[in-house]
Amino acid sequence: MKKLAAEKAVEYIEDDMIVGLGTGSTVEYALKKLGEMVKEGLKIQGIPTSLRTKKSATNYGIPLTDLKEHTEIDVTIDGADEVDSNLYLIKGGGGALTREKIIAYHSKKVIIIIDETKVTKRLGVDFALPVEVTKYGWNATMKSLEDLGCTPELRTITGEPYITDNQNYIIDCDFGKIDEPEVLEKDINLIPGVVENGLFIDLVSEVIVGSKQGIMTLEKQVTSIGEL
Ligand code: A5P
Repeated sequence: MKKLAAEKAVEYIEDDMIVGLGTGSTVEYALKKLGEMVKEGLKIQGIPTSLRTKKSATNYGIPLTDLKEHTEIDVTIDGADEVDSNLYLIKGGGGALTREKIIAYHSKKVIIIIDETKVTKRLGVDFALPVEVTKYGWNATMKSLEDLGCTPELRTITGEPYITDNQNYIIDCDFGKIDEPEVLEKDINLIPGVVENGLFIDLVSEVIVGSKQGIMTLEKQVTSIGEL
């Protein structure tokens, strides 16, 4: 299902594009396919959202550049941990949320590729929100996150704190159902010590879902004037 979505997304990629390269197992299929297309003559430059993606893209032969050279990205292809009907996302399961958000923000088009298990009615119910924080003062930052109504947990790997590509920590915040993601995104980022959080609001152009039935495209639900 992930491969289906990934291979559909790369159809948007054309010669001379600057392409944002997301992070995760779904994106890995897109990287592989893009690598094949480059071998067949496609001329693109990719900007990776993580060191992991940088390594994979290099292995697949995708030419790379960075935000210093190109402050505007044509299309970004990335995965997500949860997607709701507004096309709001929770990201950061792979720990790359800050670079992913910077790259999404500077992209003209952001295509999210997921399998059907990632679609949810309510963000936060099944996936704790990742928040990247500085190492300095992380306990106090965690307390402030708790005060916003979550159960926070420092992410660890083999007993040690998980370290992001930016040399920070991740705190996974279990809020349960997130009622106002637009508000929560801003409130979290107002806490000193928070680098970025995994709520992606109004950043997405299209979501391609690989399902057992094939491919579906999610578009933002339009509220009719009568419902306002
Ligand atoms: C990386 O930090 C995340 O935002 C990923 O995009 C997300 O975890 C999706 O990963 P998978 O494609 O492996 O499910």
